[in-house]
Amino acid sequence: MKTTLSLHGQNLSLLRFPKLPKETLQAWDAGDEYIIDHFQDAPLEKGKHILILNDQFGALSCWFSKDYQVSMQTDSHVSWQGSLKNLQRNECNQVQLLRSTDPLPEKVDLVLMKIPKNNRFLVWQLSQLRQHISPDVEVIAVNKANLIHTSTLKLFEKYLGETRTSLAKKKHRLVFSRADKTLTATSEPSISWDVPEHDLKLENLPNVYSGESLDLGARFFLEHLPSSDRGLDIIDLGCGNGVLSAKIARLNPNAHITSVDESFMAVESAKRNIARNLGEKKRFTFRANNCLDKFEPQSCDLVLCNPPFHQQNTVTDHIAWQMFTDSKRTLRKDGELWVIGNRHLGYVAKLGRLFGKNNVKVVASNSKFVIVRAKKAVISK
Ligand SMILES: C[S@@+](CC[C@H](N)C(=O)[O-])C[C@H]1O[C@@H](n2cnc3c(N)ncnc32)[C@H](O)[C@@H]1O
Repeated sequence: MKTTLSLHGQNLSLLRFPKLPKETLQAWDAGDEYIIDHFQDAPLEKGKHILILNDQFGALSCWFSKDYQVSMQTDSHVSWQGSLKNLQRNECNQVQLLRSTDPLPEKVDLVLMKIPKNNRFLVWQLSQLRQHISPDVEVIAVNKANLIHTSTLKLFEKYLGETRTSLAKKKHRLVFSRADKTLTATSEPSISWDVPEHDLKLENLPNVYSGESLDLGARFFLEHLPSSDRGLDIIDLGCGNGVLSAKIARLNPNAHITSVDESFMAVESAKRNIARNLGEKKRFTFRANNCLDKFEPQSCDLVLCNPPFHQQNTVTDHIAWQMFTDSKRTLRKDGELWVIGNRHLGYVAKLGRLFGKNNVKVVASNSKFVIVRAKKAVISK
């Protein structure tokens, strides 16, 4: 696996975040290289302000910070941390890092975009750009050619402006567009829907997981969550819109709930949904974080987790595994991790390896999902 990006006389040492002992994936892709190559043919005057959207681990930010003023906006805490570490590793010039919930910066001369997986987020970013940048600012977006569909280009045409594409190179394609101020289509800043059987109304910012309807796993999990009058410390790990946080808070009226997600929009949605559905703030904490990095060991009694199995376009179970090991470390003795997953993901066996077979029980299952409870029986690492 390569960790040095060497192009046009510039070398960058780039690692993914978090750093895994047996990492097999690179911290940049051929799409990043295509954008960099493009500037050899069509250079931009040095010192101009480039806005980079959705840089995954900071390859573009590092590269362009050498000659340009760079702002990078992301919805991902993991990308933020990865970019920051790579910028430091390469002693790059300062880059302004922005969350997806921050306003776009002023006076941008060029926009570079890694096209996000989620179309609702793409539409939101395109309509933000159209309202924010002037028509003479070029937007250059990139993705794998097989992920740029006619429908993707239609979204660019509808929400940003006239759009054309490049030839494919190393299976990637560039998309060129500019803001057309005569267009009127806008994207809703959030959408809301009800879960009447649990008396919940949920607001979802554009990049929230399952933002258009309740996740089927979450729906099943909601029916089986534990309740207690004790003053437990509970963590909703990978909280998304906070649906599990809201329900567990109602079932455990004296508990303190910490809602954690790596998506800034998820954390903001969870915060709004707790305020809206529970009308209280005191017993809640919201944190954008990578799993439970830097959480105090033995500091909580219950972790709820509906883990992801994708990181951007990459299918992976390393995040679920990190969530499980972090949970074990963060639980007090006799504390419990409750996990929901598709049956085929084999969580019973995985949790058995971590917590000991006898400490893992199936709470409920149906044809698709299984809910597993793992108890921390002994104090260990
Ligand atoms: C399957 S969704 C579950 C969302 C919500 N809890 C539900 O049940 O509908 C998994 C969540 O994990 C979050 N996530 C992904 N990687 C993460 C990480 N490294 N640290 C924390 N959260 C992460 C995703 O943003 C997503 O919101």
